[in-house]
Amino acid sequence: MIQTGGQQHEQLSSTDQKIQEFIQAFGSTDAAISAIKHFSTKPKAPSIYANNPVIMQVKDITRTYKIHRQKVEALRGVSLEVHTGEFVALTGASGSGKSTLLQLIGGLDQPTSGSITINGTDIQRLRDKKLSEFRNQTIGFVFQFFYLQPFLSLRTNVEVPGMFRHVPRKNRSPRAKELLERVGLSEYVDRLPKELSGGQIQRAAIARALLNEPKILLADEPTGNLDKRNSEEVIKLFQTIRKELGTTVIIVTHNPEIAAQADREIQLSDGVIV
Ligand SMILES: Nc1ncnc2c1ncn2[C@@H]1O[C@H](COP(=O)(O)OP(=O)(O)OP(=O)(O)O)[C@@H](O)[C@H]1O
Ligand SMILES: [Mg+2]
Repeated sequence: MIQTGGQQHEQLSSTDQKIQEFIQAFGSTDAAISAIKHFSTKPKAPSIYANNPVIMQVKDITRTYKIHRQKVEALRGVSLEVHTGEFVALTGASGSGKSTLLQLIGGLDQPTSGSITINGTDIQRLRDKKLSEFRNQTIGFVFQFFYLQPFLSLRTNVEVPGMFRHVPRKNRSPRAKELLERVGLSEYVDRLPKELSGGQIQRAAIARALLNEPKILLADEPTGNLDKRNSEEVIKLFQTIRKELGTTVIIVTHNPEIAAQADREIQLSDGVIV
């Protein structure tokens, strides 16, 4: 349809008006632009990993904590599937249940109801020794409460998960060194954790989590205390690990830029996926 100049002008004015209203709603042009940047996530190409077999299946899990006589429903029916080699970011406000979910997936805690199957094993059926064996063989943890030992060198720290599996020292030690090289810490193998930066400590914790060649790497806010450059290095490292070792990576993060680099973002709100 051929439009007259007048009609075009009218259309432009109404568009301009909408833009003005949009900017006004955010208070300033800068605020509106940063909101657009924040919300406009590019449609992602489907991840090549999405066709891989399912390595983890979470079915309708709940977790209710009881403190004194009160009940806290941290998770209220969460279901998800993760494929081998996927890089998944768990996001959501503080208290939404992210760490609770990660601990359940890692077999560090039991759900109140529902089931978690990892690598074909229903992990609720495992008890004590079998459960710790399973964790040790299948899951690598990068959790903030699981610090490096301050009096052990980086190399010995990285060897620790192998000690629990009774891997002989002659095998453990070169593997620890190799992993520290892989995470860019070859010059630091004999240092103590206190002689390192936050980013280096975090990379050493990742090397330690990889010692037993876990199928799944779980990290709770691995970039929480890091600046932009160190955060980017840690995320790049996760990308390399899953590409080169085929490890499935699940991280919790508050940072939308980091979540955008994962294959998939799963957002929790008040104990449910949204
Ligand atoms: N051991 C516990 N005992 C009682 N309540 C708990 C326990 N752990 C977590 N909660 C509660 O469960 C809810 C979810 O906590 P969770 O730690 O999973 O949140 P989160 O999303 O990891 O938050 P954050 O971003 O602050 O780390 C919160 O209301 C929290 O207070
Ligand atoms: Mg948390």
